[in-house]
Amino acid sequence: MREYEVKCIRCGARFSREDVVYTCRKCDGLLDIKYDYSEIGAEQVVKAEGEGVWKYRVLLPFDEQETKPITINEGNTPLYRCDRLAKSIGIDDLWVKHEGLNPSGSFKDRGMTVGVTKAVELGVKGVACASTGNTSASLAIFAAKAGIPCYVLLPKGKVALGKVAQAMMHGAKVFSLKGNFDDALRVVRVLCEEEKLYLLNSVNPYRLEGQKTIAFEVTEKLDWEVPDRVILPVGNAGNISAIFKGFSELKTLDITDDIPKMTGIQAEGAKPIVNAFKEGKAEIIPEDKPETIASAIRIGNPVNAAKALHAIRSSGGVAESVTDDEITEAQFMLARLEGIGVEPASAASIAGLKKLVEMGKIERDERIVCITTGHLLKDPERVIKICEPPKEVDADVDVVRAMVKGV
Ligand code: F0G
Repeated sequence: MREYEVKCIRCGARFSREDVVYTCRKCDGLLDIKYDYSEIGAEQVVKAEGEGVWKYRVLLPFDEQETKPITINEGNTPLYRCDRLAKSIGIDDLWVKHEGLNPSGSFKDRGMTVGVTKAVELGVKGVACASTGNTSASLAIFAAKAGIPCYVLLPKGKVALGKVAQAMMHGAKVFSLKGNFDDALRVVRVLCEEEKLYLLNSVNPYRLEGQKTIAFEVTEKLDWEVPDRVILPVGNAGNISAIFKGFSELKTLDITDDIPKMTGIQAEGAKPIVNAFKEGKAEIIPEDKPETIASAIRIGNPVNAAKALHAIRSSGGVAESVTDDEITEAQFMLARLEGIGVEPASAASIAGLKKLVEMGKIERDERIVCITTGHLLKDPERVIKICEPPKEVDADVDVVRAMVKGV
């Protein structure tokens, strides 16, 4: 049986693999999954066979033989070299890992394949989450695959169309909550405790185990050399914590020597982590009314803040915020210079990169990997708002020719 512990990052309390626990029962601190790394050989990771998240199952909390993963081929997303975008920003070595090309269109699938596999192992009667959209879409899909009931709480009127459509189509019970994401998370956490549903927000440490495989894939694609810096959007702050953990494990196993500078980008209207980082504080001050067009990261009280601040600080990274206009500009740059279509939150990584280069906080020759977290088609309404609409024409070659020439 695979040995691991579920350990509180604050007081060190330990919980067993059978415990259904999300935060420490003693001090309410965040939990982390800890393996006995002396039992894991570097070659088990470097020479692992297969594709995607489960390729790295030696670093996942399941028995190698017995566990049947609930999987839809998540992970194994492309890492694009982006020379045109790099040139326009004024840097030399830029890569984009397009997590929007996961089966549900976002990186959440990496966490859900692990989280829902754990839910099945525990034999829970249902799964639930609060969501700005992508988490609910992904959970609905994996719950459907596993054949277990799924309940999702979405902030009313603030979730991009494609995401709601996915949650509905895949059979989740969808609730439109009169409040924001932070309200939805507060409600669903109590609901899960009381109704014995399994909570699959990123406070659940099993989810982060799946998401850490982004770090493994990036490093493997770069011939087991880590980039100098990884930049990604930050909302509830699970992903940056997970990716940092992945890089830390590679270093612990002596596969790599360094950890990239973890660089987290938030929207100007929802930036509690950026504030805490800049003020040198250990804790965030939650924002009551987060606001941004990047609805995926419209979060005022990120649950994984403590892990994220540790990831950013201990890796020598930074946290920065960008305006909605900067996000839109970056969305266009990705789309039109590199052919990479992303939803607004994902473009925050490029907007942040551009801003940090302009501020002189990123060196021109750094090797940089930006993570684009969600696909363009998640938020088609935003595209319609920012792009020129199609021109209506008569079905006549001369008319169309005249218009083509006129454009
Ligand atoms: N990008 C996208 C596209 C997201 O959907 C999210 C989070 C993030 C970035 C931020 O990741 O929370 O790990 O810091 N979406 C969550 C959801 C909150 O409910 O779908 P994080």
